[in-house]
Amino acid sequence: MACCCLLICSCQKPNVIVIIPEPVECTPKSGNFTIDNETYLCFENLGAKTGDFSKIIHDTYRQTFKMKPNLGDKSSSHRNYILFEINKKEDKEIGKEGYTLTVKRSHIIAKANTTAGLFYAFQTIRQMAYLDQLTDSKEFHIPCAKITDHPRFAYRGAHLDVSRHFFDVNFVKRYIDLMAAYKLNKFHWHLTDDHGWRIQIDQYPGLTTIGAWRPERTSWDTLHPVQPDEPATYGGYYTKAQIRDIIEYAAARHIDIIPEIEIPGHCSAILATYPQYACDDYPYTVAVGPYWPPKAILCAGNDDVITFYKNVLKEVAELFPYPLIHIGGDEAFNDNWQVCPKCQQRIQDKKLADETALQQWMMNEMEQYLKQFGKTAIMWDDIVSDDMVNQCDVMCWQSPDVAKTAAKHGNDVILCPTSHCYFNYYQGDPEKEPLAMTGLVTLEKAYSFDPMPDGLTEAQAKHILGGQCNLWTEFINTPEQAEYMLLPRLCALSECVWTPLDKKDFKNFSKRLSFHRQYLIKSGYHCHE
Ligand code: ACM
Ligand code: ZN
Repeated sequence: MACCCLLICSCQKPNVIVIIPEPVECTPKSGNFTIDNETYLCFENLGAKTGDFSKIIHDTYRQTFKMKPNLGDKSSSHRNYILFEINKKEDKEIGKEGYTLTVKRSHIIAKANTTAGLFYAFQTIRQMAYLDQLTDSKEFHIPCAKITDHPRFAYRGAHLDVSRHFFDVNFVKRYIDLMAAYKLNKFHWHLTDDHGWRIQIDQYPGLTTIGAWRPERTSWDTLHPVQPDEPATYGGYYTKAQIRDIIEYAAARHIDIIPEIEIPGHCSAILATYPQYACDDYPYTVAVGPYWPPKAILCAGNDDVITFYKNVLKEVAELFPYPLIHIGGDEAFNDNWQVCPKCQQRIQDKKLADETALQQWMMNEMEQYLKQFGKTAIMWDDIVSDDMVNQCDVMCWQSPDVAKTAAKHGNDVILCPTSHCYFNYYQGDPEKEPLAMTGLVTLEKAYSFDPMPDGLTEAQAKHILGGQCNLWTEFINTPEQAEYMLLPRLCALSECVWTPLDKKDFKNFSKRLSFHRQYLIKSGYHCHE
């Protein structure tokens, strides 16, 4: 269907509005509002939130428009102003994260029920001024319009694997900035895996003195194993102080962080540090390069392992002020458990059917433990079965059918199927693209993602919280490459989780993107064609 927000005149310049993700309703009007040195920013009815909110708007305004805004108390006393106002009476139509925006020649009024909504209104304003951002203009024209906007899903996420390759604090913040620009609100931080442990844990310092480092290899294709004389010089980790800094940075941008601690597989970095937690006496190292199938698994029959995970999760729960913690659960190859006397004893003691049930038991122990801290566990969909015991949230990477089983079981579900959401897969012809994970998710394919599986009842559909993209980094070893794999597929994802289904239109999106891409490139982002 045609979109009201993109009018292309004969010179092929959009004379109205390019917004990604496409808003719910946008009615262009004639004329422009001009941001210049005379523009005032005004804030009304934000109460105690005024200080934090005005600071983030101030900072982003300066970065975007390369000028300092004037701060005004009362909007009415200024000729040219942008007013951010919390509704005095709740506007039910726009919900917790929506906003309304009225752009007139003399002023802009953004209204919302929350500061999150006002923040998204400001992201829309920034995008609307993009044409002047392509030049070194000192004035920025925002086309007059009336916009009503709110998200389709509450969970709108992006994941970053910092284990296969480590990304520093600056890049994590840049990633968060990109998420904020497209109104995404959940940053899934994959902090532990075979190739490196990336989070300071005070009780287990070895995890970061040993588990965060591996020999530097020039190519991911260089084979395992690590040689005894290879120095472990490649890696890194985040201190708790750095993590608190990132939490604050994300919170100002209305982004929650979902930290992930992998249990019980993808754990070579743990076993390199604490080999006593394995079922066997294999000489595990922090993994280097391709490592498949991952044999490393912590011993589910060893009480010290259960205590170890609980101690780690306690520190994670105390550090991250959010309701969700991801505890992994994917690709836990249980060959070692099948022959381990301790694991077999646990199966007998707990009257479990088999090793699959043993994993459910172990994950359930952690899920229950996290409840003490008021946290809900998320697990990958590998743990889903018709008779699953876990009441956790489920992250579905394998197929929408598994998502349906979980939703029918009553678990809340987040979708990120490999078919549409794995942005580590190629986005174009592998012959012409930099090396990537085998698989193809073109921009059009990414755009066709609908987090809502078919065939759920209304009650079951309420369990679908939303979706996210996953950026696994086996073949992504620089910030530039990470951006290249992310952009512009992140733009597509944002419409899948924000825009009403009946307003999604790939042709229209592609047109808007052709203009928006120029802005990304001018802003220094690495963006695929
Ligand atoms: C996954 O890709 N193993 C979640
Ligand atoms: Zn064992």
